[in-house]
Amino acid sequence: MHESTIAADLHSRLNLTSEALRKAEERATAGLLALELMHEIRNPLEAVGNLTYLALAEAENARAVRMYLRRVEEQLATLNYIASHTLGFARATDSPQQVRLSTLAEAALRIHQRTMQAKQIHLVKDLSEDLVAEVHTTEMLQVLSNLIVNSVDALPRAGTLYLRLKKRRSEIHFVIADNGHGIPEEHRNRVFEPFFTTKNNAGTGLGLALSKRIVEHNRGKISLRSSIRPGRSGTVFKISLPA
Ligand SMILES: Nc1ncnc2c1ncn2[C@@H]1O[C@H](COP(=O)(O)OP(=O)(O)O)[C@@H](O)[C@H]1O
Ligand SMILES: [Mg+2]
Repeated sequence: MHESTIAADLHSRLNLTSEALRKAEERATAGLLALELMHEIRNPLEAVGNLTYLALAEAENARAVRMYLRRVEEQLATLNYIASHTLGFARATDSPQQVRLSTLAEAALRIHQRTMQAKQIHLVKDLSEDLVAEVHTTEMLQVLSNLIVNSVDALPRAGTLYLRLKKRRSEIHFVIADNGHGIPEEHRNRVFEPFFTTKNNAGTGLGLALSKRIVEHNRGKISLRSSIRPGRSGTVFKISLPA
């Protein structure tokens, strides 16, 4: 074979291989997203199961059944919201879009409104209204949602969740912080590893691994600071995006 033909042949094989790699990567991300979504819908699904069980057990008590069904209805509304706002978005656009970041933050907060209310979480928001960035909307919504869930998990009843959005020179800083139990030093390097969780069966350990990957895919960086000092414990996650 002629040298140039060999080169051309190698080149096209390389192209095929990298295309296959890219597809495999995409499938892996989709798989992780699906797992994280399962994480998200597990609570409402479980609640619907329990409420249905209770309603059946008290089937002759119309008042009780009506009360259980009303709660089922609420849980279904949550599931609907997750389905349309997470998956719907995903199918609609997979290219980056100019997004007002405060809108994205509000959407992420709405997903967790109910859990936050139940735990009486105080919310402190400082969101610059007009900051726009070019990001993959669904992906970044997923990241914010993951970080909010983690904070809510770490917070005691009536704890505080902080959300701040600011521009610093050529960067946009998104800060999600809480005064929860904090992350011990020996875990700080590990929390971004896939499957690292301290929540036993309640956690997948995928939230932060996936979030880091997504932030980097959106040309950003994610970092954390945390303290477990009694009386002043808490965790700060910072996402930096190009402005
Ligand atoms: N805001 C936070 N406060 C305290 N610990 C946290 C916080 N966010 C994450 N972590 C720690 O990082 C671990 C990994 O988080 P994540 O990847 O989202 O997985 P999961 O939430 O399923 O455990 C958690 O199990 C927890 O130990
Ligand atoms: Mg998590």
